Amino acid sequence: MILAPSILSADFARLGEQIAQAERGGAGVVHVDVMDGHFVPNLTVGPVIVKAVRRATQLPIDVHLMIENADRYVDAFADAGASWISVHVEALPHLHRTITHLKSRGVRAGVVLNPSTPLSSLEEILPDADYVLIMSVNPGFGGQKFIPGSLDKIRRLRRSIVDRKLATQIEVDGGVDAGNVRTLVEAGAEVLVAGSAVFDGGDPEAGARRLLEAAR
Ligand code: DX5
Ligand code: ZN
Repeated sequence: MILAPSILSADFARLGEQIAQAERGGAGVVHVDVMDGHFVPNLTVGPVIVKAVRRATQLPIDVHLMIENADRYVDAFADAGASWISVHVEALPHLHRTITHLKSRGVRAGVVLNPSTPLSSLEEILPDADYVLIMSVNPGFGGQKFIPGSLDKIRRLRRSIVDRKLATQIEVDGGVDAGNVRTLVEAGAEVLVAGSAVFDGGDPEAGARRLLEAAR
């Protein structure tokens, strides 16, 4: 399993330090939540913060775009140092073009599904995606409760990836904590995003370590 702390819950005044602490606790990638106030009801950060994170760590940066017109911005995020970029199927009419473009830029390309979006919407794009991000909360805010149905969705996705002999990774985002992390890994999730569970206690190193231990 790869732990992906979401900096949404970090102390932005001490961002570099907080990322270094999470890294010491075992974090494998840094998850950056980009929100535009249109696709989701919240505003967060843009490429300038990705650039700052790039200088602060050697870990891959996993950019989760919760924005409209993502095609207009993916190059700016790739230029800023994003290693992985995921886009929502609900927001893009020409998803195949976007995914192909990301891969041509050497970026790992992910496809994200909101809780109410069925797995069937992945049917055609699944072989092209490097990973699928299953939202286990409605995107927009950290600290929300895990939606229980997401667990079965991950199991069904895992089964279909195996049946189709694909290498697609499954990432899960929202309400991940020490109480559910193990079940999620058993269901087939390989990359686990966690914001409040890592940063809310004020000790990201301990928060990250606790999650990784709970997953074992
Ligand atoms: C939600 C974001 C998540 C969020 C997770 O819209 O995509 O990455 O920061 O936060 P927690 O782990 O607190 O649910
Ligand atoms: Zn996210």
